[in-house]
Amino acid sequence: MFGAWRLLRVLRSCSSAPCPRPKPAAKLSVREALRAQNSNGERVKVQGWIRSVRSQKEVLFLHVNDGSSLESLQVVADSNFDSRELAFGSSVEVHGKLVKSPAKRQNVELKAEKIEVVGNCDPKDFPFKYKERPPLEYLRQFPHLRCRTNALGSILRVRSEATAAIHSFFKDSGFVHIHTPIITSNDCEGAGELFQVEPSSKIKVPEENFFDVPAFLTVSGQLHLEVMSGAFTQVFTFGPTFRAENSQSRRHLAEFYMVEAEISFVESLQDLMQVMEGLFKSATMMVLSNCPEDVELCHKFMAPGQKIRTYAEKQLFNWGVDLHTEHEKYLVKHCGNVPVFVINYPLALKPFYMRDNEDGPQHTVAAVDLLVPGVGELFGGSLREERYHFLEQRLASSGLTEAYQWYLDLRRFGSVPHGGFGMGFERYLQCILGIDNIKDVIPFPRFTHSCLL
Ligand code: 4AD
Ligand code: MG
Repeated sequence: MFGAWRLLRVLRSCSSAPCPRPKPAAKLSVREALRAQNSNGERVKVQGWIRSVRSQKEVLFLHVNDGSSLESLQVVADSNFDSRELAFGSSVEVHGKLVKSPAKRQNVELKAEKIEVVGNCDPKDFPFKYKERPPLEYLRQFPHLRCRTNALGSILRVRSEATAAIHSFFKDSGFVHIHTPIITSNDCEGAGELFQVEPSSKIKVPEENFFDVPAFLTVSGQLHLEVMSGAFTQVFTFGPTFRAENSQSRRHLAEFYMVEAEISFVESLQDLMQVMEGLFKSATMMVLSNCPEDVELCHKFMAPGQKIRTYAEKQLFNWGVDLHTEHEKYLVKHCGNVPVFVINYPLALKPFYMRDNEDGPQHTVAAVDLLVPGVGELFGGSLREERYHFLEQRLASSGLTEAYQWYLDLRRFGSVPHGGFGMGFERYLQCILGIDNIKDVIPFPRFTHSCLL
C-alpha cells in the first residue's frame, strides 16, 4: 500500500521541482484580469470568446469573456490586427499587457501584442447576435450554445455558487454528507411517479430483472438518509432526483436536484423549520456576497419565513383538499408576499412515513411545506413516524409491510424522534433570481416530450 503520508511527500516533491524555462506570461481568467491590483504593464495571456468587436480607424476594441464573470475584458489592439476572423462568437487567445484603462467603465484593459483565433465562428450562422438580448424562451432551443449568453452565464454561475453555499451551510452546521443511491427499489413518496431502470439490451434471461427486483431512478433520498441519521445524527444529500410527472409546468422537471436533510432527536416542527430557514438565508447571503451583480434581483426575496399558519388553525380552503398551485399563490399573497410555512396536513393526503399528530376530528400529520412568492412549494418536510406500532399500522394499510421490513427495523433498534425535509434546488434558484420558468435554471432541462442532447 502506498501510505497517504508517503503519497503527500511525493506530491510535494513533484510540485517543487525546478523549472529551467523562462517564466511564461501569466495566464489569467477574465475575472482575475479585471480584479488585478497592479495593472501596470504586466504581461499576461487571456483566453475566451469574443462578445463584441468595435473597429475604429486606428484601434480595434474586443470584449472577451470566458464565463468567469458577467463582465468581459476589454482588449485594445492596433487596427492592423483587424480581420474577419475576429468575429462575435470566435474563441481567441490574447497576449498582451494589462494596463489601467482610461475609460470609466472598467479599471483595466488588455493592450494586445498578439491575438490568436483559436476557433472561428461565422456570426451569420450563430443563433445569437451581437447586442441582442433574446428571451429565455428563445435560448431554450439551443441547449448547446445558450450558456454563452449573459443571461445563462449569470444563472449558471449563481447555480454553482449556490451549490457551494449549501454544502458550506451543512458542513458548518455539523452535518455529514451522504451519497444516497440514484437507483433504488423503493418509491419513497408512494406517488407512483417512477422511471423504471432496465438494461437497454436483453440480459441472459430476458424475463428476469437485472437487480432481481424492479428498480427505479430515485424520487427522493429520504429513506436512505433516515438510515444514516440513525448513526450520524445530522445528514444531508444533494443530488439528482427523478419524477415521471406528466407536466410541462413552469415549476416541474422530470430530472431536478434536491437538497435533503435528516435530523435525529428533533421533536418539533419548529426545530425543523429553523434549519429550513437557516439554509435558505445562509445560502442566499453567500450567493449575494459572492456574485452580487448576477443576483441583484433576489433582494426582495430575503424576507424571513413569516408567522406560522397551520393548515388546521387557519382554514382558508376546504378541509381535506390538497393545496394546488393557485391555493399556494393565494396563501403567499394573503400573507404579504413573503415565504410562508404551512404545517399539519391531513393524514389522508400524505405518505406513510409522516408522524401522526393523533388529533381530531381533522386527523393530521406533522408535515411542513415552505411556500415562497412566485414559485409556490419550495420545501417539503415532516417529522417521521418513529413509533413502531404506528408505522406498522400505516404500512399495513398501504400494503407495504413486506417491502419495508428494513424501515420498520429502524424503529426496533434504537429508534429516535427525527425529521427532515427536501428543497427543490431549481425552485430555490427561481425564487432568488425571479426566473419564471424552471427550464431556465438548469443546464439541460428534462421534461415530458423533451430530452435534448
Ligand atoms: O415535497 P417533496 O415531494 O418531498 C419529498 O420528496 C420528501 N421525501 C423530501 C424529504 O423530506 N427528504 O419534494 C421536495 C421538493 C418540493 O418541495 C419541490 O421544491 C421539489 O422538491 N420538487 C420538484 N422540483 C422540480 N420538479 C419537480 N417535478 C419536483 N417535485 C418536487
Ligand atoms: Mg411536497
